[in-house]
Amino acid sequence: MVNKKIKTKVYPNSKSGSKIFAKSLVNEINEVLFKKKYCLISIPTGNTPTDLYKELIELYKKKKISFKNILFFNLDEFYPISKDDIQSYNYYLNEKLFNHIDIPKKNINMLNGDINENNINSHCISFEDKIKRLGGLDIQVLGIGQNGHIGFNEPGSLIDSKTRKVNISDHSLSIISNEFNNKNEIPKEALTMGVDTILSSNKIFLLAWGKTKSTIIGKTIKNKITKNIPATYLKNHNDVTFILDKYSSSKI
Ligand code: F6R
Repeated sequence: MVNKKIKTKVYPNSKSGSKIFAKSLVNEINEVLFKKKYCLISIPTGNTPTDLYKELIELYKKKKISFKNILFFNLDEFYPISKDDIQSYNYYLNEKLFNHIDIPKKNINMLNGDINENNINSHCISFEDKIKRLGGLDIQVLGIGQNGHIGFNEPGSLIDSKTRKVNISDHSLSIISNEFNNKNEIPKEALTMGVDTILSSNKIFLLAWGKTKSTIIGKTIKNKITKNIPATYLKNHNDVTFILDKYSSSKI
């Protein structure tokens, strides 16, 4: 493992950061589509990318981008959860992005939180295989948990981990619980792309906004690679950029 340098871009706030990042993401996607037929991309859910989604929809309306040749692979999903459950990441992505753009349904590859326990392994393997068969992810966008998780790769995850079912940490559960109305319904497990899957992407962007992310962003940038902070694994990749605001970057 080599500790390579993470590039950083700092914006005044999440609104301006999302707006500028959305434009550069569209440029990145269009560059990929100039060179090959499809662009494989993965974007997180959660609070961090909500303005990014709005900006992408605006850019689509202004005809700066078409999503027809984008192949989307989702990063993670609760387990078990129905894809129609309003708390599911499937529902979230449909509501906040897919229903507003021209991405064909067949291009959307979602981890299925509704799958029978016995079929999880084969589901995860075929998800991985599809990415590989299509030449690998071109662009991976990430958020970061306050404990340094990326996707649902919680502290302790290994650098060579693949797409799999994981336990959600107590720390993450306590944060997620604020978003679930019925606390008895919070799933304790999730399906997530693995660290290896994420690192095999050609380019990686990690977004973090606000003061609550400043400590983990500081630690990720300053610490050596450690399994206790999965985001530090990103230092093993050649092309990673952290997109920050002045609050989340205050400890770098
Ligand atoms: C969700 C995901 C998670 C989130 C992280 C931060 O798809 O990949 O790793 O990015 O938990 O969540 P927010 O953005 O809600 O602070």
